[in-house]
Amino acid sequence: MKTIKIFDTTLRDGEQVPGASLKTVEKIELAKQLEKLGVDIIEAGFPISSPGDFKSVQEIAKVIKNSVVCGLTRAIKKDIDAAAQALKPAKFPRIHTGIGASDIHIKNKFKSTRSKVLDQSREAVKYAKKYTSDVEFYAEDAGRADDDFLAKMIQAVIQAGAKVVNIPDTTGYCFPEQFYQKINRLKQNVNNIDQAIISVHCHNDLGLATANTLAGIRAGAGQVEVTMNGIGERAGNTSLEEVVMALRTRVDKKYKTRINTQEIMKTSKMVSLLMGIPVQPNKAITGRNAFAHSSGIHQDGVLKNRENYEIINPQEVGVDTSEIVLTARSGRAALKHRLERLGYKIEPAQMEKIYKQFLKVADQKKEVYDEDLKLILAGKDQTKSSQLKFKLELVQVICGDKNVPTATVKIKDQEQDKIIQAVGTGTGPVDAVFKAVDSVIKEKIILKEYLVQAVTQGIDAQGKVNVEIEKNGQAHFGFSADSDIIVASTQAYINAINNSF
Ligand code: KIV
Ligand code: ZN
Repeated sequence: MKTIKIFDTTLRDGEQVPGASLKTVEKIELAKQLEKLGVDIIEAGFPISSPGDFKSVQEIAKVIKNSVVCGLTRAIKKDIDAAAQALKPAKFPRIHTGIGASDIHIKNKFKSTRSKVLDQSREAVKYAKKYTSDVEFYAEDAGRADDDFLAKMIQAVIQAGAKVVNIPDTTGYCFPEQFYQKINRLKQNVNNIDQAIISVHCHNDLGLATANTLAGIRAGAGQVEVTMNGIGERAGNTSLEEVVMALRTRVDKKYKTRINTQEIMKTSKMVSLLMGIPVQPNKAITGRNAFAHSSGIHQDGVLKNRENYEIINPQEVGVDTSEIVLTARSGRAALKHRLERLGYKIEPAQMEKIYKQFLKVADQKKEVYDEDLKLILAGKDQTKSSQLKFKLELVQVICGDKNVPTATVKIKDQEQDKIIQAVGTGTGPVDAVFKAVDSVIKEKIILKEYLVQAVTQGIDAQGKVNVEIEKNGQAHFGFSADSDIIVASTQAYINAINNSF
């Protein structure tokens, strides 16, 4: 089995995402987690680009002891000097220098010629070698470069001392077969290619970054350049977790990595949280739905044997368990499983009745939560909204540091068949809403407990709200969930009030 080196560029290419920039302390924390994850190389930044980036590379170089720490440069002496300076404290420093290889870049970006660019490449590698033996060269836009010129360039930089040659598909232009051929041609036509490791660095403009990276490995690449969650310029870079798990999962295993896969989910969440970039729910491996099953047929299959619908054991990537999401498409098996997890033992005769009640609730809601099930089992029919006294029609809040939190609610009194509008102000948006609701209800309600939790992690989390109120000395409970916590709070409060009648 061949070991593929993982070169993580979350802190450099990943950090180029607009609005994702990190403070030095955050970068240090992330670098430590990447080391724990087991990445071979951490590209810590582009030292010449700013004093902040220089400092981050320097501080990361001080604390990282097992992974190689790498700094990016252009093929320019002052860039290389800055990188060498920043990397001085590193146990294993690498300078990553390079220049455009495609005619588009040579003509339009550098206003140069192939032969001048070739000289500059050679010189940059030789210059970087004065500082460290570990020099990697990137041939930017290799994906669109002429293959014969690319071969010449790679041969020249290996001769100059490059130990790793990076072949980036900078614009995400290649198809997998084409990228395979590109790497294969270098293997065939560069006579000193065995003196260096080929690295592949793909971008995801056509959604092909992972496929191209795997094609590169098949053609002989020994290193892959990736980011956590696939973040990066434009449509992003190749995602670390996809490549690592693809190599690990397939039965025709020919390759391995040193990644401790159980750290994947933790690292993904840390990147998402620190950079403020939510992971798309259906993202392979790290999306919140990657191990969630929704349809009845799938849920039944997974409960019989996880492997029926899962090719990866979630625990391998640090996820506790697969998730069975209860919706209107869920079957009896899934409902029974969840009820048992909640501690209910249901007799078969009782099950049919509960399932029918569950379907009624599920038809009205996107997802049925544990709290809904508890209400069903307590004999409370939540679906008879026409029988509930109050129904929320609208809630709107104005708040912020320059406003007194002010809420407007419209509530339908279903017994009297009339809509009542009210406004309330409070110490915060939820307080304002509850005051507005109180002025519609016209009963003495005491709020005893208010609890808001995120059902799912991330910026798009569903807020789950539990409310306890007291009316005439009696406790009543309400629950609701919504991606808007103000809506969930209002609904939970009204539910508790309805339960008090
Ligand atoms: O995409 C790219 O070509 C790069 C290089 C600087 C390595 O990020
Ligand atoms: Zn890139």
